[in-house]
Amino acid sequence: MNIIKIKEVTSTNIYAVEKLKEQIPEWTVYLADYQLNGKGQKGNLWESEQGKNLTFSIVLEPSFLAANKQYIISKIACLGIKKTLSDYIENVKIKWPNDVYVGNKKICGILIENQIKGTTLSNSIIGIGININQEHFFSDAPNPISLKQLTNTSYNLDDLLLKTLENIRKYYSLLQKEDDNIINKEFFENMYRIGEWHKFINNTGVFNGRIDGVSEIGQLQITNKDNNIQKEYHFKEVAFVI
Ligand code: BTN
Repeated sequence: MNIIKIKEVTSTNIYAVEKLKEQIPEWTVYLADYQLNGKGQKGNLWESEQGKNLTFSIVLEPSFLAANKQYIISKIACLGIKKTLSDYIENVKIKWPNDVYVGNKKICGILIENQIKGTTLSNSIIGIGININQEHFFSDAPNPISLKQLTNTSYNLDDLLLKTLENIRKYYSLLQKEDDNIINKEFFENMYRIGEWHKFINNTGVFNGRIDGVSEIGQLQITNKDNNIQKEYHFKEVAFVI
């Protein structure tokens, strides 16, 4: 593990992509005190007050992993973060495709950028933002929450970073050993709103549905309550109503 701390950077993901043009060892971690332009999903900005939260990118080299199985990288990242946070708070869940929630609030976002060579991955940049000590959020992100807001306590960022990296590393070694069953089982057990009826929105409007699971390529499987038909959705094809 090679942790590189940076005072200020555009985005740790962009920085990691730049660095990958040269040879860098696997498990290099770029940790920023402040990101000028932290990248979120769907082209959004990632809000994080200077020095208050964890914003970092892990560089992995999962060259053993077929490109069409890349969603499993999200699973191991989400599980590692879930495990860390569960030492401090209850009701931590993994919200498909890449978030960690506490109740109906988002405590962590993940942006994974994979590089593919032929049919397998060459590199994976796992960008992680975990809200730790921030007390107020100003962007129009719908439902952010921090560990401090939940527990009224301040946390040491270095400790939480090391625990998170260690937990992700444990799940990653399961993946290297092709122990996907444990990863999948834990992922499904900890999914936000799995097996419950809730409202979702797809291109035809709002519907009542139940999450049954996630396909190997990472599509969310939802049964529609009206017709009892299960459909698989890619990211951006369906949204939760929260
Ligand atoms: C999301 O929108 O939920 C994903 C947020 C990902 C934010 C992290 S912070 C560290 C890394 N660098 C970035 O620019 N983004 C990710």
